[in-house]
Amino acid sequence: MKKVFVNGYGSIGSRIAKFVKEDSDIDVIGIGKHSPDEKVQYAINDGFSVYVPKDESGNFKDFDISGSIESVLDDCDLVIDASPGGKGIFNRKNIYEPKDIKAIFQGGETVFNDNAVADILFNSRVNYAEAFDKKYVMQGSCNVTGMGRILNPLKEKYADSLTRFDVTLVRRWADLEQTDKEITDTIEMTEQPHHGTDVKAFFGNDVPLFVRAIKVPTRQMHLHIMDIRFNEKAPTVDEIHTLFKNEYGVAILWTAKGTKDIRNFAESTKFNFKDTNMLHIHANMTKSVDDTIQLMYSDDQTGIVIPENHMLLQAMLFQRDYNDAVKRTEKLFGMEEKKKLLEKHFSKS
Ligand SMILES: NC(=O)c1ccc[n+]([C@@H]2O[C@H](COP(=O)([O-])OP(=O)(O)OC[C@H]3O[C@@H](n4cnc5c(N)ncnc54)[C@H](OP(=O)(O)O)[C@@H]3O)[C@@H](O)[C@H]2O)c1
Repeated sequence: MKKVFVNGYGSIGSRIAKFVKEDSDIDVIGIGKHSPDEKVQYAINDGFSVYVPKDESGNFKDFDISGSIESVLDDCDLVIDASPGGKGIFNRKNIYEPKDIKAIFQGGETVFNDNAVADILFNSRVNYAEAFDKKYVMQGSCNVTGMGRILNPLKEKYADSLTRFDVTLVRRWADLEQTDKEITDTIEMTEQPHHGTDVKAFFGNDVPLFVRAIKVPTRQMHLHIMDIRFNEKAPTVDEIHTLFKNEYGVAILWTAKGTKDIRNFAESTKFNFKDTNMLHIHANMTKSVDDTIQLMYSDDQTGIVIPENHMLLQAMLFQRDYNDAVKRTEKLFGMEEKKKLLEKHFSKS
């Protein structure tokens, strides 16, 4: 059994810890908390041993803390770092490197410049086996993971006729759990979004991908509006939907009016955390016009990267065959069943 520590217990870390602890090959030896707030007790109540930074243990006197993050990592196979974006690089330099321990970083970090946390950005559908021998790997962010999952099947099928992808990312303002984060009534423009560059980290710089991003006042997922251009007449709408029919982690929905409909369904059907863990192609919005396919899909911001982290764990800790890894991830997340239920509920008729 491999020992895994989850450093950070926010939107992403708490989900990862709760799902991964169900894997019989993995022992989640604890989680890292950095603020002495009520979530420390939630984590203990959830059955986790809580560890805190050595220098800050005095602030956690009111809680039953199991020890320091620094000491628990002395006997650990891999850390999943789920710290706020930009902090992972400090953890790598100050803790993980000196302890010579493997680590997974999340999408708020970078693989470029002096702050690079890793030399590989992971997308299970694209470069699964490349993570086998790596000590440090960055999991793509939710938007980057989503774009990879759409672009890869398109590239595989239409490599010779694709000429350009233009994507507008309509990003959510905050997560469901971030109740203390105020949602501002504005549409915010993002200068130089990192998402296109991150996608190119696994597809190569020559991918003709152009990304714009805005942020809108909602907690209910991201929406990607994508124009896919061909050097000939574009495929039919049916052909595009058929391409994604059996794609793992992609559901094809016809009657969702908005992203909240999907979240409400996930909640009423008791999906864990109200997450679908996937992308939803809004099939009623797909158009084939001359040389262009117009596609819209929503991206479950918090849910989508959690099964990806599990895939990545399996690559880094067990070098497991891809299909076996998918089977084990499916056992934990039940995404095939979720997809079936979603597609039935939002079916055409
Ligand atoms: N939220 C999403 O939808 C989403 C989707 C994909 C990827 N990501 C990425 O996932 C990462 C985590 O995001 P999140 O949304 O989970 O953030 P979050 O909800 O703000 O949680 C961050 C957690 O990190 C802890 N933390 C604070 N300082 C730390 C440090 N120095 N080292 C380790 N942990 C520390 C915080 O602990 P305390 O609360 O105790 O201070 C908190 O539990 C980011 O890189 C983000 O870009 C987020």
